[in-house]
Formats: sequence, structure tokens, C-alpha cells
Amino acid sequence: MIQKSITYVSALLALAGFARAQDAAADQVAEGKKNYMMICIACHQPTGMGLPAVFPPLTKSPYVNGSPERFASIILKGNAGPFTVDGKPFNQIMPGQEAVLTDEKIAAVMTFVRANFGNTSGPVTAAVVAAARKKYADRKTPWAQAELDAWKDDAPAK
Ligand code: HEC
Repeated sequence: MIQKSITYVSALLALAGFARAQDAAADQVAEGKKNYMMICIACHQPTGMGLPAVFPPLTKSPYVNGSPERFASIILKGNAGPFTVDGKPFNQIMPGQEAVLTDEKIAAVMTFVRANFGNTSGPVTAAVVAAARKKYADRKTPWAQAELDAWKDDAPAK
């Protein structure tokens, strides 16, 4: 009887813990959506599809769904120069957001984008963004696509 109640109580506690974790995940996506709607939307559009020949899509993009460190670094520093996404050419400038968005906000926006627009990749923690920010602290220029394509997660800072 006591044993049974203990099992019952721990099952309830486990459920409560699960619910809290679910709430935290939902909060992160909501925070990410808010930031996407303030910043990224201007170029990548509400649909994440971008604009043909001007802004590239975030749908099923390897830069979104691949290395979280690389995606964080894209948001921190931006991109410039010729860029091909899904076989289509772009050549504009994406401004870096390192002075605008905190690590938490960048992680949230990444988590939102990775779980929307047809993407099904997992969440990102602020620690990943903080590490990228530190590693590339001295870098002042946006990324060229060739650098991103040669990305290694554990690449030394340049
Ligand atoms: C002022 C317009 C602008 C804003 C704001 C902007 N981007 Fe971009 N983004 C671009 C452009 C332009 C490129 C391609 C760069 C090039 O042509 O060299 C790009 C490229 C990218 C790429 C790599 C290519 C791809 O399609 O996967 C990712 C990922 C990305 N942006 C995510 C974001 C996220 C997330 C935000 C919001 C935090 C954001 N961008 C804000 C214009 C913008």
C-alpha cells in the first residue's frame, strides 16, 4: 500500500517535471517566434521562404538544420557575397545581430526556425550561442558561403 502510494507520487512528480520541461520548450519557441517576427521576417518573410533572387529561404536549409554553431555564427556575424541556396543564386548582405540579440534570444530564434517552415531539427541552448560568440569575438566581417560550407564545429577561431 505504502509502496503503491510512493510509486504513484513519484509518477506524479515525474509528470510534473515533464510538464515543466514542456513549458520551458514552448516558452523558448514563443520567444523565438517573437524575435523572428521583429527581425528576420523583414527579409526571410513570414513564411520563411524569403524572396526570389533577393532573400534566401530558411525552409529545409542545411545552414538552419546543420551545425548549430554555424547557424548561431550566421546570426551573430551575418553573410555577404554570392550565395546559392537550393540551387538559386543570391547576392545581398545579411546584417549580423551580435550587438542586437542576446545569446538567449538567438538560441530561441534558432529553435523556432529549426522547428518551423518545414524544418524538424532540435532545439538549441544559449550555451551554444555563447560559445560561438566567444570563439569569433574578434571577427568583424560577415561570412562568405565558402567559409560556411567548409565549417567544422570544432574549427579554431579565425
Ligand atoms: C536585412 C535582411 C536580412 C535579415 C534581417 C536577416 N537575414 Fe538572413 N539572410 C539575408 C540574406 C541577404 C542572406 C544571403 C546572404 C548573401 O546573399 O550573401 C541571408 C542568409 C541567411 C541564412 C543562410 C542561407 C539560408 O537561406 O539558409 C540563414 C540561415 C539566415 N539568413 C537566417 C536568418 C535569421 C534566423 C535571421 C533573424 C535573426 C535573419 N537571417 C535575418 C538577409 C537577412
